[in-house]
Amino acid sequence: MLPEFYQFQHPTKMIYGEGLASDFSHELEGLNAKKYFVVSDHVINNLGLLKEVKEGMEQGGITVTGQFLDVPQDASIESVEAISKQATETGAEGLIAIGGGSVIDATKAANFTFSHGGDFIEDYSGAGTLTEHLKPFVVIPTTAGTGSECTIAAVVYDIENKTKLAFSDSYLLPVLAILDPLMTKSLPPGLTASTGMDALTHAVESYVGIDTSPHSEALAVGAIELIFKNLVRSTENGDDLEARGAMLIASNMAGTSFSHSMCGCVHGMAHPTGALFRVPHGVANTIFLPHGMEYNFEECKEKYAKLAYFMGEDVSGLSVDDAARKAIDAVRNLTKNLNKAGGLPIRLRDVGVPEERLAEIAEGAVEDGTCIYNIREVVAEEILVHVKNAY
Ligand SMILES: [Fe+2]
Repeated sequence: MLPEFYQFQHPTKMIYGEGLASDFSHELEGLNAKKYFVVSDHVINNLGLLKEVKEGMEQGGITVTGQFLDVPQDASIESVEAISKQATETGAEGLIAIGGGSVIDATKAANFTFSHGGDFIEDYSGAGTLTEHLKPFVVIPTTAGTGSECTIAAVVYDIENKTKLAFSDSYLLPVLAILDPLMTKSLPPGLTASTGMDALTHAVESYVGIDTSPHSEALAVGAIELIFKNLVRSTENGDDLEARGAMLIASNMAGTSFSHSMCGCVHGMAHPTGALFRVPHGVANTIFLPHGMEYNFEECKEKYAKLAYFMGEDVSGLSVDDAARKAIDAVRNLTKNLNKAGGLPIRLRDVGVPEERLAEIAEGAVEDGTCIYNIREVVAEEILVHVKNAY
């Protein structure tokens, strides 16, 4: 059934290819910016990846005005403000983020005050606060999962007040996203697996959510097929550049899908689990994905039956219920294989969550904004059953 109304807008240019991260300066022509401030982290710098990118930019006639490497594990207000301030002081005309979700989100949010002035990033929080374009923003992801290079959202943590600021605006999207498998080659197996599972969760949740559309669904199933073929492969062998590349593309497709159609109760459970118990986002999604799918089973079984096919299952001759079950089983098998290949935790008990505090996760899920888009109403007592199953 078609939605009565939907829209799809994706202004970010994506380029894919081995070695592009050190050879993309020509792509910046026409953007009216020749001087860029680079944001990354110490891990990427120590791996030598930053040097290669910066040398490539300089050779292509682009000036690197300075760099900021102190983005914490979760993008913080302090880091966002420092990026904006330093980029302005160095005379930069644009920003380049080279990193995972927090580096990209911090840079994305910094572009508000970098472009439009002001001292307080809080002034821009919320949805749709902008009416005009920001300065050029380019992203080179070094993980394959968050899809932040193609989403309209950024999350920044107010560490002092233990809250988070959410930003959502189509003007936040980068002008250019560079997907270069060489940039994810050094990602360790555990992070490869957990970030890849984040991408899978984006795809599954946007496919079955209340705001889905034919455009989002096409991207979601494309991503799911690539993930099932390549995530274990890239976790087992980080040097497998074809699998690395496929995961970057899948993450981008899943990100574009959920940027338009949002997530659901799996992210709804993962967010409080991360906030309360510091469980990394991709790990929490890995643990909850099969259980969130169970929670929505009756509402989503026709769609799960279709997904089973894209997950590589033989569903010929099966009833809808049986084919749908195959999709959940396929996700469980994938997580088990990733547990073997990359040590990915698959139960809450394995990541330090105390059993007596599971109700807080269920209560947090009900409050989480993602659950507005879940196909089944999220009720604390009902989802608690599944949180317990995940223990
Ligand atoms: Fe996510």
